Amino acid sequence: MKTIRIGLLGLGNIGTGTYKTLEMNKNQIQSSTGVSIEITKILERDVDRKRDIKVSPEQFTQNPDDIFLDPSIDIVIELLGGIEPASSFMLKALQNKKHVVTANKAAVAANYDAFMEAAKENQVMFRYEASVGGGIPILNALTTALLANEYEEILGIVNGTTNYILTQMTENGLDYADVLKTAQEKGFAEADPTADVEGIDVANKLSILISLVFGVRVTPDEIPTEGITKISMNDINLAAQFGYKIKLLATAKKVNNLLECHVQPAFVPLNHPLASVSNEFNAIFVKGNAVDDLMFYGKGAGPLPTGSAVMGDVIEISRAIAKGAAFDHYPESKAVKTLKFVGE
Ligand code: HSE
Repeated sequence: MKTIRIGLLGLGNIGTGTYKTLEMNKNQIQSSTGVSIEITKILERDVDRKRDIKVSPEQFTQNPDDIFLDPSIDIVIELLGGIEPASSFMLKALQNKKHVVTANKAAVAANYDAFMEAAKENQVMFRYEASVGGGIPILNALTTALLANEYEEILGIVNGTTNYILTQMTENGLDYADVLKTAQEKGFAEADPTADVEGIDVANKLSILISLVFGVRVTPDEIPTEGITKISMNDINLAAQFGYKIKLLATAKKVNNLLECHVQPAFVPLNHPLASVSNEFNAIFVKGNAVDDLMFYGKGAGPLPTGSAVMGDVIEISRAIAKGAAFDHYPESKAVKTLKFVGE
């Protein structure tokens, strides 16, 4: 049986969740793919942290070149988070002809074109399913089963931390700061939770979705963005009085030949399906011109749901390697390339 060797960059919350997903389901993964997947090297400084996984000291390295320059490593999984050094590491891995899988929306949104070009140039695969919607296979669906569509609109809740905070404030009257702390403990929040609560994480994810759905690049800093830091208990109670919940929404909509997009807290009527998306769950609506309305729903944050999406990409690449055809890329969107972006 062919063995696919992985170099893992980062064994924090998501790295541990990914490792655990592979450990828990190794036999099933092996029998469905026909390959054995091994995480052989891990770039991580915090060797002594208590993790509920079987990892040996020999797997750890402090030198990224031990991974990039090791010819036996097929796939690099990047789970460091943040734009740098993660982006440089991923480019180096691609240049060394490693396939790359990442959950890093900030890096993908910032350097989307550079990653795509490096992957094409080096005939390797670059996959980032876990970067949007945690465990929800939204990117896979948009780039495979839904390719026969053009889209008018995307709308969704794509940040687990803020949805968890708003849910706990709304349903249990809990204090913003306490709930944020719990979200961090549960492994939903970013290392710097400012990215969550200021809406930046949502803007990163919306930028990625726009690239795939509309085939245009809108960088996160071009998206008008407001987070939840100004939402008070008064706002939440007032919304409830009038039959609404406050949700942090990402929207992008084609209007004639223009794309309108923004990230902002919104009043969602209680009878709208997005109103019942609670805690770390995410939901994304898309409207295709053939399929019509679709809603994707599932856990958008957390080590295991995210680990599931990361491993999905790893398995897809491993299968392709075993078949000797690991060079395909997410197909270009067929949407009109001349869409222009309008801010607000
Ligand atoms: N901090 C992110 C969230 C993690 O809360 O949604 C998943 O992308």
